Amino acid sequence: MATERTLSIIKPDAVEKGATGDILRRFEEAGLQIIAMKKLHLSEDLAKGFYAVHKERPFYGELVAFMTSGPVVISVLEGEGAIAKNRELMGPTNSTEAPAGTIRGDHGTDIERNAAHGSDAPETAKVEISYFFNASEIVAPCEAL
Ligand code: CMP
Repeated sequence: MATERTLSIIKPDAVEKGATGDILRRFEEAGLQIIAMKKLHLSEDLAKGFYAVHKERPFYGELVAFMTSGPVVISVLEGEGAIAKNRELMGPTNSTEAPAGTIRGDHGTDIERNAAHGSDAPETAKVEISYFFNASEIVAPCEAL
């Protein structure tokens, strides 16, 4: 399996409840390296731009309101099959369907307040990573040597 990068957002609900450390630990224990990270309180424009693909959906306004309701922790994860691995760690989008032991099962509430976001494909990962990080903010030790 190829080495991939994926974007993770620990959402305001999980940050507020103090689950940041637990979620980051899950990434590292699964063999995903955190190669970039920042904590931000998203502006409305930044959240709207990130979720622009959903702008026609009925939940868009509420999603933007939720994502701007408190700080988020955004990271770039790198590893073998990182995109699928992160999605497996998160569990299904709807937290009510996410099994215990998954991030959303343990820390999410419903389909909107679902604790974490992860890129769904290599193309979206590339766009999402560059939405939040410059190349100089990504620390990839192997490439830097
Ligand atoms: P995320 O992985 O961040 O990608 C888009 C987000 O939209 C998703 O997680 C949910 O938080 C939210 N979402 C998706 N479907 C719905 C829905 N039917 N109602 C409310 N929010 C939704």
